[in-house]
Amino acid sequence: MCGIVGYVGTQDASRIILDGLQRLEYRGYDSAGLAVVQGNGTIGVRREVGKLSGLGELVAAEPITGRIGIGHTRWATHGEPSQRNAHPHVGTVGEVAVVHNGIIENFLALRQELEAAGCCFSSETDTEVVVHLVERYLAEGLGLEQAVRQALTRVQGANAFVFLCSREPDLLIAARIGNAGGITVGLGEGEMFVASDIPAILEHTRAMIFIEDRQVAIVRRGGVQVTTLAGAPVTAQVHTIPWDPVAAAKEPYRHFMQKEIYEQARTVTDTIRGRADFEAGEVLFEQLSMTAKEARALEKMVIVACGTSAYAGLVGKFMIEALARVPVEVDYGSEFRYRDPIVNNKAAVLAITQSGETVDTLAAMEEARAKGARLWAIVNCIGSQAMRMADGVILMHTGPEIGVASTKAFTASLVDLYLLGCYLGKLRGTLDKAHLREQVDQLARLPDLMGRVLEHGDEYERLANHFHDREHFLYLGRGINYPIALEGALKLKEISYIHAEGYPAGEMKHGPIALIDEAMPVVTIAVHDHVYDKMISQIEQVKARGGTVIALATEGDERIAAKADHCLFVPAVAPLLSPIVNVVPLQLLAYHLAVRRGCDVDQPRNLAKSVTVE
Ligand code: AGP
Repeated sequence: MCGIVGYVGTQDASRIILDGLQRLEYRGYDSAGLAVVQGNGTIGVRREVGKLSGLGELVAAEPITGRIGIGHTRWATHGEPSQRNAHPHVGTVGEVAVVHNGIIENFLALRQELEAAGCCFSSETDTEVVVHLVERYLAEGLGLEQAVRQALTRVQGANAFVFLCSREPDLLIAARIGNAGGITVGLGEGEMFVASDIPAILEHTRAMIFIEDRQVAIVRRGGVQVTTLAGAPVTAQVHTIPWDPVAAAKEPYRHFMQKEIYEQARTVTDTIRGRADFEAGEVLFEQLSMTAKEARALEKMVIVACGTSAYAGLVGKFMIEALARVPVEVDYGSEFRYRDPIVNNKAAVLAITQSGETVDTLAAMEEARAKGARLWAIVNCIGSQAMRMADGVILMHTGPEIGVASTKAFTASLVDLYLLGCYLGKLRGTLDKAHLREQVDQLARLPDLMGRVLEHGDEYERLANHFHDREHFLYLGRGINYPIALEGALKLKEISYIHAEGYPAGEMKHGPIALIDEAMPVVTIAVHDHVYDKMISQIEQVKARGGTVIALATEGDERIAAKADHCLFVPAVAPLLSPIVNVVPLQLLAYHLAVRRGCDVDQPRNLAKSVTVE
């Protein structure tokens, strides 16, 4: 997902934009650039492939100064990462510049039409077609706003754009079509900011407007007007963002991911806050405003999500089926939307998405809506598209999650799913007052249990030194901890680039056991629960074939300590809450292995924090 920053005001636009792009680095990119309308009325452009530091050095060596500009970090879709494919793109005349997020699906036809009309292209990107279209309408006498509206009627696909024009050096035009990542307008005093993500501009203002699908923002230093694509005025809500800039800062940790792992004892507390009445032993979930009758009429729930959020959904299945006895299906967003799913108004579809902008999850939500299902979402990013689409929103309340590898948002999702299960169980009568109080009491102990696990971080560094050169890992879990095996494997592969597979432990003998050898460590989640004995025999099967076992075990478990090669101990936890604690050692193991291998932990190669392209 590309990063966008725009500015119009009285400060040095280049500095504001470079700072803002730095705060979006975590989203992943391969090149970056900025364009500024300079004092002499021309547009100055600086673009560089590779890290933002290279762009900063270029701007320092060849400054471009002005009071209005746009900047971009690019995650290549059309055209390889290179300086000429980096954004912003400027038209032939040189009066218009644009930055873009998304894919122009009909760019080839548009490019052929424009080349036939004499346009010369300087890049391989789809983006460049739109700046030539705008220049064409400017040449017909339209101003920037109308030229952009005209040009966008020709463009297909999910896209977000920000334009500037040297003829109107006090105006930015931002537009959003579909779900290609957000456009946020930050309201300052005598200055305005535009960004694809809140952290880019949070240090300047907390008052923000979120541009919706098929809307245009006309931004000047004195204020912003929002209209539909056709030009009809829209009353946009101004949100006050509760996050503080410090929350988005990294210090004193080495990486955002490390900070976010260690924040989890606090963030799960924030997620619980206001949703559990520990005195009364009650769960409070006003956001969903469901009656007991509606809850009892619920025939099934389908959880749709991607990546780590999908694994949270797999844990949620266990929680909600145990607590509320609602049948739960879990499906990848990218699969759900293409399988003509059997959902109707007696089903609830629950999306889980940290960013609230994952295009496959948003598309699944649209499919659910079209089929008449009740649509809920567990979301972290305030003002995101998923938040605006859902009938009921359950916030994660973790603050900005900057590391590409999701950690605190995952555990927050699990807490929300547990609370949702309790809420539905109460309404459906599957949880009487005593049982509900018991669940709430167990929840109260969770932050302390998380904190105890986080006290032993140094032992993971030792393990990482021992296993950093391995090429393959196998993760085994059973029951509610099977999805934690999947998540542990995903954490490892996405930040350390070690191949890792998560597997239901019972399936090992149906194939993966052929992989066992001394070179491939096997991480087994073998805590005290109803499948503990099965996991013990799994460990014995691995050891009998010369395998190396890293066991996640319950504190004081000497039986496992005698069998496994290495033990990671966690405190005893109520079974339905155990995944929330058990995932933390696997996050730390992945983190330290990635650091030991010298990987870019916060911005792993090829990955983006929010995948807004299919
Ligand atoms: C998780 O570590 C990855 N960054 C990725 O799998 C992520 O969970 C997935 O892209 C879904 O993102 P979302 O929760 O923002 O929808």
